Amino acid sequence: MGSTTLTTPFKDQTHYSLAKKLLPWTIYAFFPIVIFRLYFYPLQLPQSSRDQFPNTTPIIITSSSTLSLAPPPRFSPPPQLSSHKEEERADETPCDYTSGKWVSDKLGALYNGTTCGTIKDGQNCINHGRPDFDYLYWKWKPKQCELPRFEPNTFLQLIRNKHIAFVGDSMARNQLESLLCMLSTASVPELVYKDGEENKFRRWYFPSHNANVSVYWSPFLVKGIEKSQLGPDYNKLYLDHVDERWAGDLDHINMIVLSIGHWFLHPAVYYEGDLVLGCHYCPGLNLTEIGFYDVLRKALRTTLKTIIERRGSNGNAIDVVVTTFSPSHFEGDWDKAGACPKKKPYNESEKQLEGMDAEMRKIEVEEVNATKDNAKQFAKFRLEALDVTKLSLMRPDGHPGPYMHPFPFANGVTDRVQNDCVHWCLPGPIDTWNEILLQVVKKWEGPSERGG
Ligand SMILES: *[C@@H]1O[C@H](CO)[C@@H](O)[C@H](O)[C@H]1NC(C)=O
Ligand SMILES: *[C@@H]1O[C@H](CO)[C@@H](O)[C@H](O)[C@H]1NC(C)=O
Ligand SMILES: *[C@@H]1O[C@H](CO)[C@@H](O)[C@H](O)[C@H]1NC(C)=O
Ligand SMILES: *[C@@H]1O[C@H](CO)[C@@H](O)[C@H](O)[C@H]1NC(C)=O
Ligand SMILES: *[C@@H]1O[C@H](CO)[C@@H](O)[C@H](O)[C@H]1NC(C)=O
Repeated sequence: MGSTTLTTPFKDQTHYSLAKKLLPWTIYAFFPIVIFRLYFYPLQLPQSSRDQFPNTTPIIITSSSTLSLAPPPRFSPPPQLSSHKEEERADETPCDYTSGKWVSDKLGALYNGTTCGTIKDGQNCINHGRPDFDYLYWKWKPKQCELPRFEPNTFLQLIRNKHIAFVGDSMARNQLESLLCMLSTASVPELVYKDGEENKFRRWYFPSHNANVSVYWSPFLVKGIEKSQLGPDYNKLYLDHVDERWAGDLDHINMIVLSIGHWFLHPAVYYEGDLVLGCHYCPGLNLTEIGFYDVLRKALRTTLKTIIERRGSNGNAIDVVVTTFSPSHFEGDWDKAGACPKKKPYNESEKQLEGMDAEMRKIEVEEVNATKDNAKQFAKFRLEALDVTKLSLMRPDGHPGPYMHPFPFANGVTDRVQNDCVHWCLPGPIDTWNEILLQVVKKWEGPSERGG
């Protein structure tokens, strides 16, 4: 891998130096094989995901492979809706929730491990006997403003008569379950739909507000075939097609929260149109190693472009939030005690955003920024990055660690202890993501916007 003759198929992204690209591959190429097999294929391995994409799916897709964002399809918004930008009040300086610090907070979480029935076992740290509770008593203090505590009733009012969908990998699920637990303290939802192993597709209905909240498993957002025991030991990504498992429902979704990242670290082969673009960590396949940064970028671009095309043409409004990359905090071997041992947040001088975490976030924010610029004429398409990378990076104390399993030390500390330093305890720091999400939606739905 990494010969000097490497050519990037993404001609518009040459500003990433080759060296910068190669470094993380060498570090992270081996990482996902061990770690992510455990975390992202917990317990049973999925039966071939090819069930999702019937045998007729060709390995080589024959279609145009151009992905440029411009020019977008013609769509003229109704005149009364075209001016919501101008109505933004000048005195409303938007709060930058990205930079700030964690400060101690006596209030603690809105819920506990038993108040809602939707916490994934591996993230139910309290129920699994995590003995320290300090990690629950912090709140995020943005530099220039306050982040209000989550208000479940306000959120429910904002999604009245709407369907909000979380689409992505297990981080999307983690965030969805946090939101659902917080909303459940105000109104009890009914689980109305459930499908897929590990409940990868679910929908809840809040009768009190005629609101639907759902989660769709789609770790690449674009069409993908996940590696499996029966099939090849690498993922296949089709970068010019979205995954129809979620995109097929777009007509019934009002707000969509996209959250991806970690699955892009897996070994994979990438396709676009009738081209094999290359691969990531695929020894023996005689394909060019192209890493995963440009692939993530392209997957996001295809996703956002498709959402605009499909919703632009039928004229229904849609709001899109892209949750940025969530850093993991492995400090030692994943299968030894003390893999993520910290019991307090980092302070500002202790931890900088750098390396892969920074690069993944940057790609996501850049794609959101570029799409916003390109989609200005679509008054009914709103897009925002939920930039949680930095604030999450500062919370090494918020992961399940060994408490991904119940009472891991019931028989003393053993040689082998599996640790989850990727996902977040519920309740935990990820609740803050939804506090910010509430502010994003509030700003969208505020009196100066779209007129309710
Ligand atoms: C969890 O919260 C519920 C109220 O939602 C309360 O009744 C219960 O005692 C709490 N459990 C623990 C262990 O704190
Ligand atoms: C929510 O889902 C139900 C079906 O369970 C459907 O009847 C209803 O129209 C949906 N409401 C919204 C606002 O999406
Ligand atoms: C690998 O691919 C190159 C270019 O496609 C080809 O020239 C070469 O013969 C291949 N090597 C093997 C071992 O298949
Ligand atoms: C940050 O944390 C380090 C290590 O815990 C400590 O030495 C340092 O004084 C802290 N700095 C601030 C500004 O709190
Ligand atoms: C995205 O756009 C915002 C607002 O224009 C800007 O402050 C920020 O630097 C941009 N971020 C990236 C990564 O391009």
